[in-house]
Amino acid sequence: MGSIHIGAEVGEIAETVLLPGDPLRAKFVAENMLTDAVCYNNVRGMLGYTGYYQGKRVSVQGSGMGMGSTAIYVNELIETYKVKNLIRVGTCGSIRADIGVGEVILCMSASGDSGANNAYFGTMHFAATADFGLLLKAYEVAQKLNIPTHQGSIFSTNTFYDDNPQRWDKWEKHGILGVEMESQILFTIAKRLNTKALTILTVSDNIRTGIAASAKEREQSYTDMFRIAFELA
Ligand code: HPA
Repeated sequence: MGSIHIGAEVGEIAETVLLPGDPLRAKFVAENMLTDAVCYNNVRGMLGYTGYYQGKRVSVQGSGMGMGSTAIYVNELIETYKVKNLIRVGTCGSIRADIGVGEVILCMSASGDSGANNAYFGTMHFAATADFGLLLKAYEVAQKLNIPTHQGSIFSTNTFYDDNPQRWDKWEKHGILGVEMESQILFTIAKRLNTKALTILTVSDNIRTGIAASAKEREQSYTDMFRIAFELA
């Protein structure tokens, strides 16, 4: 028996799961970077695969966009499938002119505007942070593979579209590197359910300069980020 949104049998999902937002990116990396990959989920087209990376068993599961969708998959992966390591591999908008499209960010923490966080903590503010062991290992792997990375904090938002052109100024001032839509809730749920989480991002667009990657590039590039993440299995 699977969970509500994942059709896999218990045991079909590995202890370490990579979570791209886009299910077609899950398919692409399963077919191009894993051996013996088997698709275990097609419910709502949110594809998930288990295969082997350099002999190590690992899964890759689409999370969808945004914290609502991500929270559903993260909860079910942990509660039903007993997943231990959740590694989001996604894209972000850079809010710094000097961090360009294609550059990789290893995320230490996620600030954000998530209503789900307010629901859990009321007027208090939980500092959503990545697992230090996974972060350190990702950094060491990146060094070994000669992949340059930025380490720092990001912002998870519920609103991709916003009218305010000064929206990111105060966050840039407070050291935030990029903006995405999933990590704050990933880090919070992982902590609450006693599992480990990390986010690795590739910059898909620079909000300051307006330079952006195409949809095709979003689907098919980003190999460096996945190489780092698969090494963590
Ligand atoms: N905003 C929010 N999420 C994103 C962005 C962005 O500009 N780019 C990639 N994910």
